[in-house]
Amino acid sequence: MSKIILTGDRPTGRLHLGHYVGSLRRRVELQNSGEYEKIFIMIADAQALTDNFDNPDKIRENIIEVALDYLSAGLDPSKTNIFIQSEISELTELTFYYMNLVTLSRLERNPTVKTELQLRDFENSIPVGFLNYPISQASDITAFKATTVPVGEDQLPMLEQAREIVRKFNSTYGEVLIEPQALLPDNKICSRLPGTDGKAKMSKSLGNCIYLSDTAEEVSKKVMSMFTDPNHLKVSDPGSLEGNTVFIYLDAFAKDEHFAKYDPDHKNLDELKEHYQRGGLGDVKVKRFLINVLEEELAPIRARRAEFEKDIPGVYEILKKGTEVARAEAAKTLSEVKAAMRINYFEDEDLIKGWQAKYDRR
Ligand code: TRP
Repeated sequence: MSKIILTGDRPTGRLHLGHYVGSLRRRVELQNSGEYEKIFIMIADAQALTDNFDNPDKIRENIIEVALDYLSAGLDPSKTNIFIQSEISELTELTFYYMNLVTLSRLERNPTVKTELQLRDFENSIPVGFLNYPISQASDITAFKATTVPVGEDQLPMLEQAREIVRKFNSTYGEVLIEPQALLPDNKICSRLPGTDGKAKMSKSLGNCIYLSDTAEEVSKKVMSMFTDPNHLKVSDPGSLEGNTVFIYLDAFAKDEHFAKYDPDHKNLDELKEHYQRGGLGDVKVKRFLINVLEEELAPIRARRAEFEKDIPGVYEILKKGTEVARAEAAKTLSEVKAAMRINYFEDEDLIKGWQAKYDRR
C-alpha cells in the first residue's frame, strides 16, 4: 500500500516553535525522505471557523501567514500539496455522511473536545459545528486515503475517532476507507513544548510564544526573559532542571555539534546539565547558548520567509495549485464513498437498466 501523508493546522495565528518541533520539522524530514507517494498539508480554515465563526477576518489573514511559515520551514510545493480546507467542498460532503456513524455521546467524550470546550466556555452552549469537528477531521484524513498523520500528542483522540469512523464505514458499506496512523514526534519534549514562561503549551493567548517569523532580536529578548530555576540566584548556586524552560528547549533543539561551535567548555547537553546542577554555571550563559542554537535553526527559515514575502501572489498561486490537486483526490474518494453507500444513482448504469427491465416485464 502506498504511503500517504495528510496533516494540517488551524490558521488562527502565525506558527511558533511549538508547532515547529511538534510537527512542522518532522513534516519537512518526511517530505525529503522520499518514502511517501503523496503529501497533503492542509490549512484548516473551516475547522478554525468552528470556534472563530464570528471572526472570519482573523482566519483570512492567517492563511497567508501559515502558508509563509510552511514554505519558509522547508515545505516544498513540488513535493507537497499545500491547500485550503474550505475550498474542497467534498470534505463537507463526506462529513455529512460520516455524521451518521457517530453518536452524540461519543463526541462529547472525545478528550480533546472536552478540554477545548472548557477553554472556550462553551460548556453550556456548544455550537453543533464545534462539537462536530472531529468528524470533519476524519473527512480531512480519509478523503486523501492518508496512511500517516504527523501530529502532536494532543491530536491522538482525533485520530482514534477517525479510525473508528473508518471501521464503522467499512463494515457498514464495504472496504473503501483507509485507517490512518498518527505519527508522533520521536522526542517526548517535542510533543509538548512549554511556553517561554514555563507554563503549559505555547499559546498565542498566553503571549509565551517564539514565532518562526520573529526577528533575531525578538528571539533573543524572549530567551533572555525565559523562566528558569527561581532558586538559582547566584552563579555558584546549584541549579535545578525541573521545569527549567531553558533546558527543556535545549532538549528539543541542542545537538552535539552546537557545543563544539558555541560552547566548547561542554561536550554535550549532559555535561552542561551536570555543570548547572553542580553550581557555577549562570543562567545568562545557558541562555546565550540557547539563542545560538535556536538561531541555527531559525536563521535559514527567516531568510526563506523574506524571499517568499516578496512574492505574495506567487504564494497564493502555490495554494491554488495545491488546492486543485487536493480537490481531485478528494473527489475520487467521495465518488467511491457514494458508490459504496449506494447513492451514486446517475453513475450506476445497471441501476437504470435494471429498473427498465423490471418495468418492461410487468
Ligand atoms: N486539529 C488540528 C489542530 O488543531 C488541525 C487539523 C485539522 C488536522 N484537520 C486535520 C490535523 C487533519 C491532522 C489531520 O492542529
